[in-house]
Amino acid sequence: MNAQDPAARFPHLHFPDSWYAVAWAREVPSGIAVPLRAFGEDLVAFRKSDGAVQVLAAHCPHLGAHLGHGGTVVGDEVRCPFHGWQFDGSGRCTRAANARSVSQATALRAWVTRDLHNRIWIWFSNTDAPPNWDLPETLLNPDVRWKVAGRIDRSFPSHPQDVLENAADAEHFRFVHGMSEILSAETAYTEHGLATRLKARSKSDRLGFKGIVFNLDITARVYGMGLQTIHSVITHDRLPFSLSTIVIEGLVPREAGQVDLLIDIQMSALPVPGVDWLAHRSFRQAVVADVDSDIQIWAHRRYLARPQLVAVDTEIGGYRRWARRFYPQPSPGVTRVERVIPT
Ligand code: FES
Ligand SMILES: [Fe+2]
Repeated sequence: MNAQDPAARFPHLHFPDSWYAVAWAREVPSGIAVPLRAFGEDLVAFRKSDGAVQVLAAHCPHLGAHLGHGGTVVGDEVRCPFHGWQFDGSGRCTRAANARSVSQATALRAWVTRDLHNRIWIWFSNTDAPPNWDLPETLLNPDVRWKVAGRIDRSFPSHPQDVLENAADAEHFRFVHGMSEILSAETAYTEHGLATRLKARSKSDRLGFKGIVFNLDITARVYGMGLQTIHSVITHDRLPFSLSTIVIEGLVPREAGQVDLLIDIQMSALPVPGVDWLAHRSFRQAVVADVDSDIQIWAHRRYLARPQLVAVDTEIGGYRRWARRFYPQPSPGVTRVERVIPT
C-alpha cells in the first residue's frame, strides 16, 4: 500500500452509495451550463425553466465536447457548444441539427438530484439503483433564530467513511477540538443515519475568551456518507442565555481518494443587540480551526482494518459495521474489528 496514493489507502470502494453535495446551489445559476466533477467523472449541471436542477454526464456523444464548457441552456435543455446537439434533463438527445437522426442509444446519463439546504445533491449508487432513502427536509431547529456565520470549502485526500467516522469518535473531541472534559457520549444508529450526543466542557480559548469554561451539549448527526450536521447548545453557569450553533457539512468524493467539504456555519442570534458579528467571527474562526485540525489527520491517516481499539473507543467498531450498508457487497478487510486491549 502506497501511503502517497490516497486512493490506495482505503480498502473499500471509493464511492459508497449515498447522496452527495456536489455544489453550492448558487454555483448553478439559471441559464448557465456548469461543469462539475464528482465520483471521478465529468458532469454538467443546469436549471430547467422552472428552476429544477438537472445533472448529466458531461461529454457529448457526438464528438466528445464538454457541455459545461461553452454549452448553452435553451429552455429546459442544454446545447452542445461544438455542433449544437441538444439534450433534455433526462439526457435524451432532442436535436441533432447536422444529422438526419440519431440513435436512441445516444443519451447521456442523467443523475438523480436534489436542490436542498443551499446545495445540489446527487444520488450515487454503485449498482445504478435508485435512492432507497432521502435527505432530511429540515436540518435547523425552527424555534431558533438562525443567522449565517460563514461558509467554508475544503478539499483533501480522504474517503467519506473515514471523514464521518469522527462522529462516532468521542475521544477525538478532546484531543483535536480542545474539549477539556467529555462528560458523556452516546451513539445511536438508524437505517441510514447515526446520531452521537456528547456532553462536554470546553475551554473557550479558541473562541477568544481566555480561561472561561463553557458547557457543551453537542449532537452530531450523519446521513448516509454525504451529510453531517453538528449542533451545539453552549451554556455558561453565569450567563443567563444559551447559544445554539450548527455546522452543516456536505461531502462529495470528487475523485477516488479525494473528498470535498461544503460547510456552512449558523448561529442563534444573541439577546444583546449589535454583537452578533463578533460572536459569529469567533465561532467561524473556531470552526475553521476545528475543520483544519480534522483535515490534518484525515489527509495523512491510514485506514486500519484491524485497529488497536482501547476501552474508550466504544463506537468505532459499531460505526464501521453500520457503514457497510453503503457498499453493494462486503469489502475485503473490513469484516473484523477487534478490541485487543481489555477493559
Ligand atoms: S460534439 Fe457535441 S454536437 Fe458535436
Ligand atoms: Fe472532528
